[in-house]
Amino acid sequence: MENKNTANGDCGCDPYLLSLVETQPTSTNKKTGRSTGLLLASITGGAAIALSVVCFPFVSPALRRVVLPYVPASTKQVENVMKALSASKSTGKKLIDLGSGDGRIVLAAGQKGFQSHGVELNSVLVLYSKFAAWKQRINNVTFSRQDLFKVDYTKYNNIVIFGVEEMMPELEALFEKSLKSSSQVIACRFPLPNWKPSNVIGEGIDTVWVYEV
Ligand SMILES: C[S@@+](CC[C@H](N)C(=O)[O-])C[C@H]1O[C@@H](n2cnc3c(N)ncnc32)[C@H](O)[C@@H]1O
Repeated sequence: MENKNTANGDCGCDPYLLSLVETQPTSTNKKTGRSTGLLLASITGGAAIALSVVCFPFVSPALRRVVLPYVPASTKQVENVMKALSASKSTGKKLIDLGSGDGRIVLAAGQKGFQSHGVELNSVLVLYSKFAAWKQRINNVTFSRQDLFKVDYTKYNNIVIFGVEEMMPELEALFEKSLKSSSQVIACRFPLPNWKPSNVIGEGIDTVWVYEV
């Protein structure tokens, strides 16, 4: 004779009741699952927001009319800028770096006794530069978050720019209007299109052009 219970497993339970027990999560399980899901979603969402906040200052220059990305000067390039400063006939020791990045040129010039200021759009890099100055105990340097096209250049004798080719004509016109006669411009990697340099230091991508105003 056929055993009725074999289809329901060994226990002989009602198949409907058995399926309820096996497939329905308990309310405690449901709550735990929901909280874990919420926690994971919050962590992922929070991490995405934090990442966007940190990355935005690095990406935002790409949204401007002239794109000037963050490319730090090489060690050789910094050395060449320092050589240009040492060879300078200008007695003034006030320097500005336009788009100062992580502050390496400003810090190196500060160590050489120049009262140096860096303007930089990226607030993370401005904060980093200030921290580096504090850590290295270099007191004659300052940094501000500012657009390099809106700076008053007249206060400075040495203007350093590591820009891109497309922005050099606009900068040249700006310098022509606003620079004092005792100042000099030090252009890294890309020269000013029309001015005649008084000195050219280094070669290749580390070349530095010096212009006396
Ligand atoms: C090529 S990097 C040079 C960094 C630094 N001077 C160096 O030599 O290591 C150019 C820097 O200019 C900044 N920048 C771009 N547009 C700017 C603007 N309109 N005003 C100020 N800084 C700007 C970028 O964020 C970037 O850090």
